Amino acid sequence: MCGIIGYVGHEECAPIILEGLRRLEYRGYDSAGIAVHDGQALRVRRAAGKLSVLGDLLAREPLRGTVGIGHTRWATHGKPVEHNAHPHVSGGIAVVHNGIIENHVELKRRLQAEGRVFSSDTDTEIVAHLVDLATQRGLSLFEAVRATLAELRGAYAIAVLAGNDASKIVLAKNASPLVVGKGDGVMIAASDVPALLQHTRDVIFLEDGELAEITRDGARIERLDGTPVNRPPQRVHWSMMQAERGGYKHFMLKEIHEQPRALEDTLRGRVLLEESDLEASELGVTPEAARTLKRVVFLACGTSYHAALHGRYLVESVARVPAVAELASEFRYRDPVVGEGDLVVAVSQSGETADTLAAAKEAKERGAQILAVVNVQGSAIARMAHGALYTHAGPEIGVASTKCFTAQLAALTMLALYLGRRRGALTAERAGALLTELVAVPHKMRDALADAKHVEDIARAIMHARDALFLGRGLSSAVALEGALKLKEISYVHAEGYAGGEMKHGPLALVDRNMPVVCLLPDDSTLEKMLSNVQEVRARDGNVIAVVNTEEVAQNLATHTIKVPRTAEEFTPLVTIVPLQLLSYYVADHRGTDVDQPRNLAKTVTVE
Ligand code: G6P
Repeated sequence: MCGIIGYVGHEECAPIILEGLRRLEYRGYDSAGIAVHDGQALRVRRAAGKLSVLGDLLAREPLRGTVGIGHTRWATHGKPVEHNAHPHVSGGIAVVHNGIIENHVELKRRLQAEGRVFSSDTDTEIVAHLVDLATQRGLSLFEAVRATLAELRGAYAIAVLAGNDASKIVLAKNASPLVVGKGDGVMIAASDVPALLQHTRDVIFLEDGELAEITRDGARIERLDGTPVNRPPQRVHWSMMQAERGGYKHFMLKEIHEQPRALEDTLRGRVLLEESDLEASELGVTPEAARTLKRVVFLACGTSYHAALHGRYLVESVARVPAVAELASEFRYRDPVVGEGDLVVAVSQSGETADTLAAAKEAKERGAQILAVVNVQGSAIARMAHGALYTHAGPEIGVASTKCFTAQLAALTMLALYLGRRRGALTAERAGALLTELVAVPHKMRDALADAKHVEDIARAIMHARDALFLGRGLSSAVALEGALKLKEISYVHAEGYAGGEMKHGPLALVDRNMPVVCLLPDDSTLEKMLSNVQEVRARDGNVIAVVNTEEVAQNLATHTIKVPRTAEEFTPLVTIVPLQLLSYYVADHRGTDVDQPRNLAKTVTVE
């Protein structure tokens, strides 16, 4: 996730673009850059680090001009260093890009064979080269971009500026957001509305497969096939604060709703449907190592630990490798037996959690292979690991992790499938069926999100509870733990997650009619056993909230039923966690707590 912006107007644009990027910083903040046409040529300034570093650079080395593009980056391909910061320039073409070009490796190889020299590790730079080549063939900038798009696979919102034309910017969009604002003698485009609001409230949201050319006087929009688009601007009434949260009341709610996109971005370019396999060059785990490794050890804290439990389960069941998941904060202090032959997977949203970092270092010193599953490029855990499988969830601002959790589930699922294929535990046929289902999961998440209003009603009904229980078996037991953690961390309602079978060994004593018991009852191999556990709760008058695939399952058992789409058992948590996140959110919101910054907690914990 990154933020892009383009401005064509009459004012000095560098400060305007910088201010726009500030409004987009929530989308990424590891490096930034800007290109301005000064009337003669393109001038570029780029800097690693927060936007303020670029601001300082521009103060020392200002840019003058009234047409420009800018970018704030959340690294996906290539570290967050200056040479990977956008804009990327080739010949007379500068490009900023948000998204992931899936076929960048083959395109880069082809361009290099044609003698093109690359100066970054990004997927974006190929776009600059392709547009430059097309303009050299005599195409206009608009047509050159169109020709380039025909070669790209993946997600993109791009803005392109040419050194030989200071009158326009060309934009294109597929699967990444892009909105065009129309002011008085000024056109400004950006990834999101907050970047435009100071200039205009009249906006056109571009659709997938559209490209646009903006000049001071207006926009010309076409579909890729040349069909003209005449979409009148619409007026947005959001306040700046509302706009930054995409119209949602809290970042957490926004991030819950971003999950299908985060999942798609995490799977993009890695799921190889035609080969029934996974692209795994980032892992640092060669096919040979995958075949011979003896054990997988997952290390993590908090929500990431719950994702680790999911990873452990799948690595055992799908890849048939012994696996354990350990709380990183405990691991180091018991002189663990770990070393050669172990693949240690450190799971962390921030990549900076002190306990996880220290535990992974300890394992590395003892000879284990370390794989980081992290969301932040270049973070400490990513740097110390032998390989990194990044989740592409984009920055997460709410302290309670949501979209990073589901992106972690997806990454660990891919790891399990990769190991399963290499070790022969998973046939190509079964892998193909699973991968086909995996790419359908974001749509199922969207369906689950569409039921938010119903979940809010349930939240209202249980919001005064003092305690709550969450039950699940098999893969759903980790979902139960995560559901309980979400509720307690943001609403301060005491909540416990339990494996359903453990109820009778203690927690059942707590159940009475005041106790909401959230039961995960997807149609999977544990359903019958779970139903027996729910009967035990009902017999004690427990207030059952059932999460099901089939409504009949919970008949006569549940006070409230939440139906979510069915998926393969291996992916069920990706869908069933959605209503649990929403439930916690709405309970907290109705109780009036500080949802995005709950008391006593921090987003990143860098102390042990
Ligand atoms: C903090 C956050 C949690 C997070 C945990 C682990 O406690 O509040 O949301 O799950 O740290 O963080 P990590 O960045 O390692 O995933």
